Amino acid sequence: MIPKKLQDQLDARNAEITFRALDMPQLLVDFASNDYLGFSMSNEIFDRTHYYLENEFIFQNGSKGSWLLSGNHQLYAEVEELICETYHCNAALIFNSGYNANLGFFSCVPQHDDIIFYDELIHASIRDGIAMGEAKAFAFKHNDLEDLKRICQNEQPHFTENTEVYIATESVFSIDGDTPDLVAIADFCELNKFRLIVDEAHAIGVFGKEGEGLVRSLGIDKSVFARLISFGKALSSHGAAILGDQGLIDYLIQFSSPSSYTTAIAPHSLMTIKASYKELELTHAIKKLNQNIRFFKEKLKENQLEKYFTESNSAIQCCTISDSEKVKKIVRHLNEKGFDPEPIFSPTVPKGQERIRFCIHAYNSEDEISKVLSLLAPFFS
Ligand SMILES: Cc1ncc(COP(=O)(O)O)c(C=O)c1O
Repeated sequence: MIPKKLQDQLDARNAEITFRALDMPQLLVDFASNDYLGFSMSNEIFDRTHYYLENEFIFQNGSKGSWLLSGNHQLYAEVEELICETYHCNAALIFNSGYNANLGFFSCVPQHDDIIFYDELIHASIRDGIAMGEAKAFAFKHNDLEDLKRICQNEQPHFTENTEVYIATESVFSIDGDTPDLVAIADFCELNKFRLIVDEAHAIGVFGKEGEGLVRSLGIDKSVFARLISFGKALSSHGAAILGDQGLIDYLIQFSSPSSYTTAIAPHSLMTIKASYKELELTHAIKKLNQNIRFFKEKLKENQLEKYFTESNSAIQCCTISDSEKVKKIVRHLNEKGFDPEPIFSPTVPKGQERIRFCIHAYNSEDEISKVLSLLAPFFS
């Protein structure tokens, strides 16, 4: 028996019909996964990983320990170097996941006298990291630079000469797929000597000619204090990295508990990351993905669905329904017809702002996109 107060929370969630179950993925047309480029199914990546491992005589399963102890491997340095070249940054540090990287960064870099201003829709990993740390934190309205400026101005009287100000946002928001005006935010941070952190988890492999993300494509890499990239989305492997100056990386190695006190990711996973980067150079999947995103948006217009969807040029296209029962009904219908979009309920989004999220992939056909939107349209007429 679990404590009554835990059982009460379980019962309450069950009553709200948003009880989370760990369902097995169904064999439906995928509009839900983060495998934007189809790399999870790539034989080339699979074979290349094994070829690299054998060629370099790496016959090792687990990593054997945390990176500070026996878990480090020459591949960490190799992949970090590759990341620095790809994203034009001075240094990089690999973590076990993006969740772990955000926890590691936000729990130790912003300190007692510091202030974090973060977008109200920021990912849970950043919120959790902030909650573990000692800095004061304030949310600003989603993608609203004017609100950020207003909140900064309100807090300015409380800054001390020791205060560092951190601004946290995402280049592609994980729920709605939308993007802030990153250039304007970067200018604002430069002007005020604030430190900008951009989570690029959903931009990598989607934006830029070689999937290098938005920070580099927009040419603002020098104005960003730290970037997070995840290898678990478009690259479809596992792990993540924080990119920044060598001093930041040295600091994280010393003081970031979520990365030090855990078993490092295994050489095999690092090699998969390396093989996925090679595939990014060779593949036409990014081009195909972006064609599909454009096609999806054309079909939204044709089906008069555009006004229900958040404006997004990313692989994430999301409509807000604001009614959990209706979301369930629509998703059930689409599932029955063979399609798998993602219903998004509270607590991932606030109650009354429930959504249906469509993740577009390079491997979705135009026919699948046309069909799923023509099935969706009658629910809005
Ligand atoms: C914006 C954002 N940041 C970080 C993460 C965590 O990344 P990972 O899946 O590698 O733990 C996610 C994953 O959902 C995300 O959407």
